Amino acid sequence: MKRRTLLGAAALPLGPLPLVPLARPALAQSWPSRPITLSVPFAAGGPTDVMARLLAQRLAVSLGQSVPVENLGGAGGIVGTEKLSRARPDGYTIGLGHMGTHAANPAFYKSLPYNPLTDFEPLCSVGTNPMIAAARPGLAKTVAELRDWVAKNPGQLTLANAGTGSVSFLGGLLFDRVISARSTMVPYRGAAPALQDTMNGVTDAIVDQAVTVIPQARGGTIQALAVAMPQRLPQLPDVPTAAEAGIPDFSIAVWNGAYAPKGTPEPILAKLAEAFSAALDDEALSKQFTEYAVLIPPRAERGREPLRRLMQAEVPRWEKLARDAGVEKQ
Ligand code: MLT
Repeated sequence: MKRRTLLGAAALPLGPLPLVPLARPALAQSWPSRPITLSVPFAAGGPTDVMARLLAQRLAVSLGQSVPVENLGGAGGIVGTEKLSRARPDGYTIGLGHMGTHAANPAFYKSLPYNPLTDFEPLCSVGTNPMIAAARPGLAKTVAELRDWVAKNPGQLTLANAGTGSVSFLGGLLFDRVISARSTMVPYRGAAPALQDTMNGVTDAIVDQAVTVIPQARGGTIQALAVAMPQRLPQLPDVPTAAEAGIPDFSIAVWNGAYAPKGTPEPILAKLAEAFSAALDDEALSKQFTEYAVLIPPRAERGREPLRRLMQAEVPRWEKLARDAGVEKQ
């Protein structure tokens, strides 16, 4: 059989192609035999990156190979997510994505260069994180003070974000609406540089995930204004909920997920999914995620099929939300 395939291959102009079906099971069996790249479609130091690096340490232990994190930010996560969709589906390139890259983006772009539902293999939901509205130091200590500032400076508020369709963009749109600010959205390659510029006073405010706001708000380098969820966070007990701050409709939390490119062999997908799930069961990681207010889904809700179902529900939900809000696709 092997001989016939090889002889047949010799007669074809594309030579080695018929070897692929023979090579695949062997590849799956020996996987992983070299480092596995975990791609992050945003700049280093942002929420996706922080979660990726914590996960990568545990994945490396359970898979027996190093798991370097590769950051490729730009265009609200599209640049890096497209690259992941085109990566060789051999289990050596996987990536993190979230509610923006894998659900909301189709609602904001006319021709997104990937399809979140068909170009990826969902691996594992890795956690949900609330968003927090925060202002540059000295601008406002509360939402009420920010509203006063907006009233005195109509149309002047700048909101830093990680680009159209990113979650800091989605959170920013919602916040802008609930405080009626008509803000200018200022895009960056990730939430880390966006947050940094807000801390430095280059931009006025940001809506970012708790992962990265908590340490800065504690350190006093940013003024947290409201948590976009019904309960206060024990990590920031003095920061009011959205309802307490007078903006009850400011409610947004971000789900994050791990993906492989479509076509990755089934046995590798199963091993990767289990490795992510095991990482989330790790006591030290779960402690670190809890410090950042990342809620880890129970095992039954974090696997490949639950993440696929979540995306199948979320893509049309964001299409509808954007349509109802009159958002014009770019
Ligand atoms: C986003 O705003 O979509 C992400 O949180 C950006 C990031 O992880 O840097």
